[in-house]
Amino acid sequence: MDITIRGSRSLRGQITVPGDKSISHRAIMLGAIAQGVTEIERFLMAEDCLATVDCFRKMGIDIRIIHENMSSTGKEIAGKSEVLDFNPENAKVKVFGKGLHGLKKPDCPLYVGNSGTTIRLLSGILAGQDFDVEITGDESIRRRPMGRVTEPLRLMGANIEGAEGGNKAPLKIRGGKLFAINYRLPVASAQVKSSLLLAGLYAKGQTTIEEPEKSRDHTEIMMKAFGVDISRENNTVRLNPVPELRPQKITIPGDISSAAFFMVGACILPDSDIIIKNVGINPTRTGIVDALRLMGADIEILNESITNGEPVADIRVRSSRLKGINVKGPIIPRIIDEIPILAVAAAFAEGVTVIKDAGELKVKESNRIAAMVDGLSTFGASITETEDGMVIEGGGKLKGGRVKSYGDHRIAMSQAITALGAEGSTIIENVDCVNISYPDFFKTLTKISVHGSSGPAIH
Ligand code: S3P
Repeated sequence: MDITIRGSRSLRGQITVPGDKSISHRAIMLGAIAQGVTEIERFLMAEDCLATVDCFRKMGIDIRIIHENMSSTGKEIAGKSEVLDFNPENAKVKVFGKGLHGLKKPDCPLYVGNSGTTIRLLSGILAGQDFDVEITGDESIRRRPMGRVTEPLRLMGANIEGAEGGNKAPLKIRGGKLFAINYRLPVASAQVKSSLLLAGLYAKGQTTIEEPEKSRDHTEIMMKAFGVDISRENNTVRLNPVPELRPQKITIPGDISSAAFFMVGACILPDSDIIIKNVGINPTRTGIVDALRLMGADIEILNESITNGEPVADIRVRSSRLKGINVKGPIIPRIIDEIPILAVAAAFAEGVTVIKDAGELKVKESNRIAAMVDGLSTFGASITETEDGMVIEGGGKLKGGRVKSYGDHRIAMSQAITALGAEGSTIIENVDCVNISYPDFFKTLTKISVHGSSGPAIH
Protein backbone atom coordinates (compact mmCIF):
# COMPACT_ATOMS: atom_id res chain seq x y z
CA MET A 1 0.00 0.00 0.00
CA ASP A 2 1.15 3.55 -0.83
CA ILE A 3 0.16 6.52 1.30
CA THR A 4 -0.19 10.24 0.51
CA ILE A 5 0.78 12.80 3.14
CA ARG A 6 0.30 16.53 2.89
CA GLY A 7 2.40 19.00 4.90
CA SER A 8 0.78 19.55 8.28
CA ARG A 9 0.75 22.54 10.62
CA SER A 10 1.43 20.91 13.96
CA LEU A 11 1.22 17.84 16.16
CA ARG A 12 -0.90 18.28 19.27
CA GLY A 13 -2.35 15.96 21.91
CA GLN A 14 -1.63 13.08 24.22
CA ILE A 15 -0.80 9.64 22.89
CA THR A 16 0.59 6.28 23.91
CA VAL A 17 2.89 4.19 21.74
CA PRO A 18 2.84 0.38 21.61
CA GLY A 19 5.00 -1.82 23.83
CA ASP A 20 8.76 -1.96 23.43
CA LYS A 21 9.83 -4.37 20.69
CA SER A 22 13.09 -5.50 22.29
CA ILE A 23 11.45 -6.16 25.65
CA SER A 24 8.45 -7.94 24.07
CA HIS A 25 10.73 -10.45 22.30
CA ARG A 26 12.67 -11.13 25.48
CA ALA A 27 9.51 -11.62 27.56
CA ILE A 28 8.31 -14.40 25.22
CA MET A 29 11.72 -16.07 25.06
CA LEU A 30 12.44 -16.10 28.78
CA GLY A 31 8.80 -16.95 29.51
CA ALA A 32 9.01 -19.98 27.22
CA ILE A 33 12.06 -21.43 28.99
CA ALA A 34 10.90 -20.54 32.52
CA GLN A 35 9.08 -23.10 34.64
CA GLY A 36 5.41 -21.97 34.74
CA VAL A 37 3.18 -19.18 33.46
CA THR A 38 4.58 -15.77 32.54
CA GLU A 39 2.00 -13.01 32.07
CA ILE A 40 2.79 -10.08 29.83
CA GLU A 41 0.82 -6.81 29.64
CA ARG A 42 1.16 -4.33 26.73
CA PHE A 43 2.95 -6.89 24.57
CA LEU A 44 3.80 -5.43 21.14
CA MET A 45 1.24 -6.86 18.72
CA ALA A 46 3.33 -6.36 15.62
CA GLU A 47 4.80 -8.71 13.02
CA ASP A 48 8.31 -8.98 14.50
CA CYS A 49 7.18 -10.04 17.96
CA LEU A 50 4.44 -12.28 16.59
CA ALA A 51 7.18 -14.08 14.63
CA THR A 52 8.84 -14.87 17.97
CA VAL A 53 5.50 -16.13 19.31
CA ASP A 54 5.09 -18.32 16.25
CA CYS A 55 8.58 -19.87 16.57
CA PHE A 56 7.96 -20.89 20.19
CA ARG A 57 4.50 -22.25 19.40
CA LYS A 58 6.19 -24.44 16.77
CA MET A 59 8.44 -25.73 19.55
CA GLY A 60 5.45 -26.79 21.64
CA ILE A 61 5.00 -23.72 23.86
CA ASP A 62 1.41 -22.72 24.53
CA ILE A 63 1.21 -18.93 24.11
CA ARG A 64 -2.20 -17.30 24.48
CA ILE A 65 -2.95 -13.80 23.27
CA ILE A 66 -5.92 -12.38 25.11
CA HIS A 67 -7.74 -9.17 24.34
CA GLU A 68 -8.47 -7.40 27.63
CA ASN A 69 -12.11 -6.74 26.71
CA MET A 70 -12.62 -10.37 25.88
CA SER A 71 -10.71 -11.92 28.73
CA SER A 72 -13.84 -12.17 30.88
CA THR A 73 -15.43 -14.40 28.25
CA GLY A 74 -12.16 -16.25 27.87
CA LYS A 75 -12.01 -15.68 24.12
CA GLU A 76 -8.47 -15.97 22.88
CA ILE A 77 -7.20 -14.86 19.56
CA ALA A 78 -4.72 -16.91 17.62
CA GLY A 79 -4.54 -15.37 14.15
CA LYS A 80 -2.22 -12.51 13.25
CA SER A 81 -4.73 -10.55 11.15
CA GLU A 82 -7.27 -10.47 13.97
CA VAL A 83 -4.63 -9.45 16.45
CA LEU A 84 -3.38 -6.51 14.40
CA ASP A 85 -6.75 -4.71 14.71
CA PHE A 86 -6.45 -4.52 18.47
CA ASN A 87 -5.49 -1.57 20.53
CA PRO A 88 -1.96 -2.74 21.38
CA GLU A 89 -2.33 -1.51 24.93
CA ASN A 90 -5.05 -4.00 25.69
CA ALA A 91 -3.05 -7.02 24.62
CA LYS A 92 -2.18 -9.49 27.30
CA VAL A 93 -0.12 -12.59 26.63
CA LYS A 94 0.25 -15.75 28.69
CA VAL A 95 3.29 -17.93 28.05
CA PHE A 96 3.09 -21.45 29.50
CA GLY A 97 6.80 -22.01 30.01
CA LYS A 98 8.10 -25.58 30.02
CA GLY A 99 11.47 -25.00 31.61
CA LEU A 100 14.98 -24.79 30.19
CA HIS A 101 14.71 -28.23 28.56
CA GLY A 102 11.01 -28.22 27.62
CA LEU A 103 11.19 -27.11 23.97
CA LYS A 104 10.43 -29.76 21.34
CA LYS A 105 11.89 -30.17 17.89
CA PRO A 106 9.63 -28.29 15.43
CA ASP A 107 8.36 -30.27 12.44
CA CYS A 108 9.20 -27.48 9.97
CA PRO A 109 11.84 -24.74 9.69
CA LEU A 110 11.36 -21.79 12.02
CA TYR A 111 10.50 -18.60 10.13
CA VAL A 112 11.33 -15.21 11.69
CA GLY A 113 9.97 -12.96 8.94
CA ASN A 114 11.87 -9.65 9.08
CA SER A 115 13.00 -9.97 12.69
CA GLY A 116 16.75 -9.80 13.33
CA THR A 117 16.16 -9.94 17.08
CA THR A 118 14.23 -13.21 16.72
CA ILE A 119 16.82 -15.01 14.59
CA ARG A 120 19.86 -13.84 16.57
CA LEU A 121 18.49 -14.32 20.10
CA LEU A 122 16.70 -17.55 19.27
CA SER A 123 19.92 -18.99 17.79
CA GLY A 124 21.41 -18.69 21.28
CA ILE A 125 18.59 -20.74 22.79
CA LEU A 126 18.63 -23.28 19.94
CA ALA A 127 22.37 -23.80 20.41
CA GLY A 128 21.56 -25.32 23.80
CA GLN A 129 18.80 -27.75 22.68
CA ASP A 130 19.41 -31.40 21.97
CA PHE A 131 17.63 -31.32 18.62
CA ASP A 132 18.52 -29.88 15.25
CA VAL A 133 16.50 -27.15 13.62
CA GLU A 134 16.55 -24.83 10.63
CA ILE A 135 15.83 -21.14 11.05
CA THR A 136 15.29 -18.58 8.31
CA GLY A 137 13.47 -15.36 7.43
CA ASP A 138 12.51 -12.98 4.65
CA GLU A 139 14.77 -11.63 1.93
CA SER A 140 16.12 -8.85 4.22
CA ILE A 141 16.98 -11.36 6.97
CA ARG A 142 18.75 -13.61 4.47
CA ARG A 143 20.99 -10.65 3.50
CA ARG A 144 21.95 -9.66 7.07
CA PRO A 145 25.18 -10.87 8.76
CA MET A 146 24.73 -13.83 11.11
CA GLY A 147 28.44 -14.66 11.56
CA ARG A 148 28.43 -12.31 14.56
CA VAL A 149 26.31 -14.87 16.42
CA THR A 150 27.21 -18.13 14.69
CA GLU A 151 30.97 -17.70 15.25
CA PRO A 152 30.85 -17.26 19.06
CA LEU A 153 28.10 -19.89 19.35
CA ARG A 154 30.39 -22.33 17.53
CA LEU A 155 33.14 -21.41 20.00
CA MET A 156 30.71 -22.49 22.73
CA GLY A 157 30.35 -25.87 21.02
CA ALA A 158 27.25 -25.45 18.84
CA ASN A 159 27.19 -27.01 15.42
CA ILE A 160 25.89 -24.42 12.96
CA GLU A 161 25.76 -24.44 9.20
CA GLY A 162 24.44 -21.73 6.97
CA ALA A 163 24.79 -19.90 3.70
CA GLU A 164 28.23 -18.25 3.16
CA GLY A 165 29.90 -20.49 5.75
CA GLY A 166 27.31 -19.71 8.41
CA ASN A 167 27.25 -15.94 7.93
CA LYS A 168 23.81 -15.91 6.34
CA ALA A 169 20.42 -17.50 6.98
CA PRO A 170 19.01 -20.09 6.52
CA LEU A 171 20.93 -21.45 9.52
CA LYS A 172 20.94 -25.11 10.53
CA ILE A 173 21.64 -25.36 14.23
CA ARG A 174 22.45 -28.65 15.93
CA GLY A 175 22.55 -27.85 19.62
CA GLY A 176 24.07 -29.90 22.36
CA LYS A 177 26.64 -29.58 25.07
CA LEU A 178 27.85 -26.00 25.38
CA PHE A 179 30.85 -24.59 27.20
CA ALA A 180 31.04 -21.09 28.60
CA ILE A 181 33.34 -18.62 26.84
CA ASN A 182 34.92 -15.25 27.59
CA TYR A 183 34.06 -13.16 24.57
CA ARG A 184 34.72 -9.60 23.51
CA LEU A 185 32.09 -8.35 21.08
CA PRO A 186 33.63 -6.81 17.94
CA VAL A 187 30.64 -4.40 17.70
CA ALA A 188 28.36 -3.14 20.47
CA SER A 189 25.34 -5.31 19.67
CA ALA A 190 22.62 -6.18 22.16
CA GLN A 191 21.42 -8.92 19.83
CA VAL A 192 24.78 -10.67 19.88
CA LYS A 193 25.26 -10.13 23.62
CA SER A 194 21.76 -11.48 24.32
CA SER A 195 22.22 -14.49 22.05
CA LEU A 196 25.37 -15.48 23.94
CA LEU A 197 23.75 -14.87 27.33
CA LEU A 198 20.84 -17.13 26.34
CA ALA A 199 23.29 -19.80 25.18
CA GLY A 200 25.16 -19.26 28.45
CA LEU A 201 22.07 -20.52 30.32
CA TYR A 202 22.85 -23.94 28.76
CA ALA A 203 26.64 -23.80 29.05
CA LYS A 204 28.96 -25.36 31.57
CA GLY A 205 30.75 -22.61 33.52
CA GLN A 206 30.63 -18.84 33.64
CA THR A 207 29.94 -16.91 30.42
CA THR A 208 31.67 -13.52 30.25
CA ILE A 209 30.90 -10.96 27.59
CA GLU A 210 32.69 -7.67 27.16
CA GLU A 211 31.18 -5.00 24.93
CA PRO A 212 33.09 -2.08 23.39
CA GLU A 213 30.25 0.33 24.35
CA LYS A 214 27.24 -0.42 26.51
CA SER A 215 24.34 -1.64 24.37
CA ARG A 216 20.72 -1.98 25.50
CA ASP A 217 20.57 -4.08 28.67
CA HIS A 218 16.97 -5.37 28.65
CA THR A 219 18.17 -8.99 28.60
CA GLU A 220 20.28 -8.51 31.72
CA ILE A 221 17.44 -6.72 33.58
CA MET A 222 14.85 -9.33 32.66
CA MET A 223 17.14 -12.32 33.28
CA LYS A 224 17.80 -11.06 36.80
CA ALA A 225 14.05 -10.93 37.48
CA PHE A 226 13.70 -14.51 36.17
CA GLY A 227 16.31 -15.57 38.75
CA VAL A 228 19.39 -15.84 36.57
CA ASP A 229 22.78 -15.30 38.24
CA ILE A 230 23.91 -12.34 36.12
CA SER A 231 25.99 -9.31 36.98
CA ARG A 232 27.72 -6.39 35.28
CA GLU A 233 30.95 -4.58 36.00
CA ASN A 234 31.59 -1.66 33.64
CA ASN A 235 31.17 -3.11 30.15
CA THR A 236 31.53 -6.76 31.18
CA VAL A 237 28.56 -9.03 31.84
CA ARG A 238 28.93 -12.37 33.66
CA LEU A 239 26.37 -15.15 33.74
CA ASN A 240 26.30 -18.44 35.65
CA PRO A 241 23.69 -21.02 34.69
CA VAL A 242 20.85 -21.76 37.12
CA PRO A 243 18.70 -24.94 37.24
CA GLU A 244 15.43 -23.10 36.63
CA LEU A 245 13.98 -19.73 35.57
CA ARG A 246 11.10 -18.27 37.65
CA PRO A 247 8.09 -17.08 35.60
CA GLN A 248 7.21 -13.38 35.88
CA LYS A 249 4.42 -10.82 35.52
CA ILE A 250 5.73 -8.21 33.11
CA THR A 251 4.28 -4.88 31.99
CA ILE A 252 6.06 -3.64 28.90
CA PRO A 253 6.80 0.10 28.62
CA GLY A 254 6.04 2.05 25.43
CA ASP A 255 8.77 1.81 22.82
CA ILE A 256 10.99 4.91 22.74
CA SER A 257 12.00 3.92 19.20
CA SER A 258 8.34 4.38 18.15
CA ALA A 259 7.93 7.52 20.27
CA ALA A 260 10.96 9.05 18.51
CA PHE A 261 9.00 9.70 15.30
CA PHE A 262 6.44 11.85 17.12
CA MET A 263 9.16 13.54 19.17
CA VAL A 264 10.92 14.73 16.04
CA GLY A 265 7.57 15.59 14.38
CA ALA A 266 6.64 17.81 17.33
CA CYS A 267 10.06 19.51 17.28
CA ILE A 268 10.00 20.44 13.59
CA LEU A 269 6.32 21.43 13.16
CA PRO A 270 5.34 24.87 14.48
CA ASP A 271 2.87 25.20 17.37
CA SER A 272 3.27 21.56 18.39
CA ASP A 273 2.83 20.24 21.90
CA ILE A 274 2.52 16.50 22.56
CA ILE A 275 2.75 14.18 25.53
CA ILE A 276 3.68 10.54 24.96
CA LYS A 277 2.61 8.48 27.96
CA ASN A 278 4.47 5.58 29.59
CA VAL A 279 7.58 5.39 27.44
CA GLY A 280 10.59 3.25 28.39
CA ILE A 281 13.52 5.56 29.20
CA ASN A 282 16.20 2.99 29.93
CA PRO A 283 19.46 5.01 29.62
CA THR A 284 20.78 2.54 27.04
CA ARG A 285 17.95 3.72 24.76
CA THR A 286 17.66 7.47 25.35
CA GLY A 287 20.32 8.69 22.94
CA ILE A 288 17.53 10.32 20.90
CA VAL A 289 16.47 12.46 23.88
CA ASP A 290 20.07 13.53 24.50
CA ALA A 291 20.77 14.27 20.83
CA LEU A 292 17.55 16.26 20.32
CA ARG A 293 18.16 18.25 23.50
CA LEU A 294 21.66 19.03 22.28
CA MET A 295 20.03 20.31 19.07
CA GLY A 296 17.89 22.62 21.20
CA ALA A 297 14.70 20.54 21.53
CA ASP A 298 12.17 21.39 24.21
CA ILE A 299 11.72 17.98 25.84
CA GLU A 300 10.45 17.30 29.35
CA ILE A 301 10.57 13.94 31.10
CA LEU A 302 7.62 13.67 33.51
CA ASN A 303 6.22 11.17 36.03
CA GLU A 304 9.26 8.89 36.16
CA SER A 305 8.79 5.44 37.67
CA ILE A 306 10.27 1.94 37.47
CA THR A 307 8.37 -1.09 36.13
CA ASN A 308 9.99 -4.53 36.13
CA GLY A 309 13.38 -2.89 36.58
CA GLU A 310 12.87 -0.63 33.53
CA PRO A 311 12.56 3.16 33.93
CA VAL A 312 9.35 4.58 32.43
CA ALA A 313 8.11 8.19 32.01
CA ASP A 314 5.86 10.52 30.04
CA ILE A 315 7.67 12.59 27.43
CA ARG A 316 6.46 16.09 26.54
CA VAL A 317 7.80 17.71 23.39
CA ARG A 318 7.08 21.17 22.01
CA SER A 319 8.09 22.92 18.78
CA SER A 320 11.73 23.85 18.91
CA ARG A 321 14.33 25.69 16.86
CA LEU A 322 16.86 22.96 16.19
CA LYS A 323 20.51 23.40 15.31
CA GLY A 324 22.99 20.92 13.80
CA ILE A 325 25.22 18.77 16.02
CA ASN A 326 27.93 16.08 15.83
CA VAL A 327 26.82 12.55 16.75
CA LYS A 328 29.48 9.86 17.23
CA GLY A 329 31.09 7.43 19.69
CA PRO A 330 29.37 5.90 22.75
CA ILE A 331 25.99 7.51 22.01
CA ILE A 332 25.68 5.48 18.79
CA PRO A 333 24.42 2.18 20.33
CA ARG A 334 21.99 4.27 22.44
CA ILE A 335 20.45 5.85 19.34
CA ILE A 336 21.12 3.26 16.65
CA ASP A 337 17.47 2.68 15.65
CA GLU A 338 16.65 6.40 15.84
CA ILE A 339 19.36 7.65 13.48
CA PRO A 340 16.99 7.72 10.46
CA ILE A 341 14.57 10.01 12.32
CA LEU A 342 17.47 12.02 13.75
CA ALA A 343 18.54 12.65 10.15
CA VAL A 344 15.06 14.09 9.53
CA ALA A 345 15.46 16.42 12.54
CA ALA A 346 18.86 17.44 11.13
CA ALA A 347 17.34 18.27 7.74
CA PHE A 348 14.99 20.75 9.47
CA ALA A 349 17.70 22.16 11.78
CA GLU A 350 19.87 25.22 11.18
CA GLY A 351 23.45 24.26 10.33
CA VAL A 352 25.31 21.03 9.73
CA THR A 353 24.82 17.67 11.47
CA VAL A 354 27.56 15.06 11.16
CA ILE A 355 26.78 11.44 12.09
CA LYS A 356 29.80 9.12 12.44
CA ASP A 357 30.61 5.61 13.77
CA ALA A 358 27.25 4.37 12.50
CA GLY A 359 28.37 1.81 9.90
CA GLU A 360 26.01 -0.71 11.58
CA LEU A 361 23.13 1.13 9.88
CA LYS A 362 24.15 -0.51 6.61
CA VAL A 363 23.19 -3.96 7.94
CA LYS A 364 19.82 -3.15 9.49
CA GLU A 365 16.46 -4.07 7.91
CA SER A 366 17.71 -2.01 4.93
CA ASN A 367 20.89 -0.02 4.33
CA ARG A 368 19.58 2.86 6.40
CA ILE A 369 22.34 5.28 5.39
CA ALA A 370 21.62 4.83 1.68
CA ALA A 371 17.84 4.83 2.27
CA MET A 372 17.87 8.12 4.20
CA VAL A 373 20.25 9.79 1.78
CA ASP A 374 18.00 8.78 -1.11
CA GLY A 375 14.77 9.76 0.69
CA LEU A 376 15.87 13.11 2.10
CA SER A 377 17.52 14.05 -1.23
CA THR A 378 14.19 13.46 -2.97
CA PHE A 379 12.65 15.99 -0.55
CA GLY A 380 15.39 18.42 -1.61
CA ALA A 381 17.54 18.17 1.52
CA SER A 382 21.30 18.52 1.32
CA ILE A 383 22.65 15.18 2.58
CA THR A 384 25.72 13.14 1.72
CA GLU A 385 26.63 9.58 2.57
CA THR A 386 29.95 8.96 4.31
CA GLU A 387 31.73 5.69 5.06
CA ASP A 388 30.13 5.33 8.50
CA GLY A 389 27.33 7.85 8.57
CA MET A 390 26.09 10.97 6.86
CA VAL A 391 26.43 14.74 6.73
CA ILE A 392 23.25 16.81 6.60
CA GLU A 393 23.13 20.49 5.90
CA GLY A 394 19.83 21.60 7.37
CA GLY A 395 17.65 24.60 7.02
CA GLY A 396 16.57 24.45 3.36
CA LYS A 397 12.87 24.23 2.46
CA LEU A 398 11.82 20.67 1.70
CA LYS A 399 9.29 19.76 -1.00
CA GLY A 400 7.07 16.68 -1.16
CA GLY A 401 7.71 13.99 -3.78
CA ARG A 402 7.52 10.25 -4.30
CA VAL A 403 9.70 8.24 -1.91
CA LYS A 404 10.33 4.59 -1.13
CA SER A 405 10.09 2.77 2.20
CA TYR A 406 12.71 0.20 1.20
CA GLY A 407 10.43 -2.28 2.98
CA ASP A 408 11.91 -0.92 6.21
CA HIS A 409 9.48 0.16 8.93
CA ARG A 410 11.72 2.85 10.38
CA ILE A 411 12.45 4.34 6.96
CA ALA A 412 8.70 4.45 6.12
CA MET A 413 7.92 6.28 9.39
CA SER A 414 10.86 8.68 8.95
CA GLN A 415 9.61 9.58 5.45
CA ALA A 416 6.14 10.22 6.89
CA ILE A 417 7.47 12.75 9.41
CA THR A 418 9.58 14.44 6.71
CA ALA A 419 6.45 14.66 4.54
CA LEU A 420 4.56 16.46 7.32
CA GLY A 421 7.28 19.11 7.45
CA ALA A 422 7.60 19.46 3.66
CA GLU A 423 5.60 21.67 1.31
CA GLY A 424 2.98 19.97 -0.86
CA SER A 425 2.13 16.28 -1.03
CA THR A 426 4.30 13.20 -0.67
CA ILE A 427 3.59 9.65 -1.75
CA ILE A 428 5.39 6.99 0.29
CA GLU A 429 5.46 3.62 -1.45
CA ASN A 430 4.88 0.30 0.33
CA VAL A 431 4.17 1.47 3.83
CA ASP A 432 2.75 -1.88 4.99
CA CYS A 433 6.16 -2.52 6.53
CA VAL A 434 5.12 -0.32 9.49
CA ASN A 435 3.31 -3.47 10.69
CA ILE A 436 6.73 -4.81 11.66
CA SER A 437 6.88 -2.57 14.73
CA TYR A 438 3.94 -0.16 14.73
CA PRO A 439 0.70 -1.22 12.99
CA ASP A 440 -1.24 1.85 14.23
CA PHE A 441 1.42 4.40 13.32
CA PHE A 442 -0.60 6.25 10.66
CA LYS A 443 -3.76 6.13 12.79
CA THR A 444 -1.97 7.80 15.70
CA LEU A 445 -0.21 10.28 13.43
CA THR A 446 -3.57 11.27 11.90
CA LYS A 447 -5.05 11.66 15.37
CA ILE A 448 -2.51 14.27 16.46
CA SER A 449 -1.91 16.05 13.12
CA VAL A 450 -3.53 19.46 13.18
CA HIS A 451 -3.91 20.68 9.62
CA GLY A 452 -5.34 23.60 7.67
CA SER A 453 -8.86 23.84 6.27
CA SER A 454 -8.21 21.67 3.20
CA GLY A 455 -9.01 18.25 4.64
CA PRO A 456 -7.03 15.47 6.31
CA ALA A 457 -3.25 15.46 6.09
CA ILE A 458 -2.92 11.72 5.57
CA HIS A 459 -4.94 9.45 3.28
C1 S3P B 1 18.00 -4.94 19.29
C2 S3P B 1 19.30 -4.53 19.18
C3 S3P B 1 19.78 -3.63 18.12
C4 S3P B 1 18.63 -2.88 17.45
C5 S3P B 1 17.48 -3.80 17.12
C6 S3P B 1 16.96 -4.46 18.38
C7 S3P B 1 17.64 -5.86 20.38
O1 S3P B 1 20.43 -4.38 17.12
O2 S3P B 1 19.08 -2.24 16.29
O3 S3P B 1 16.44 -3.07 16.51
O4 S3P B 1 16.43 -6.05 20.65
O5 S3P B 1 18.54 -6.42 21.00
P1 S3P B 1 22.00 -4.76 17.21
O6 S3P B 1 22.20 -5.64 18.36
O7 S3P B 1 22.31 -5.45 15.91
O8 S3P B 1 22.71 -3.44 17.34
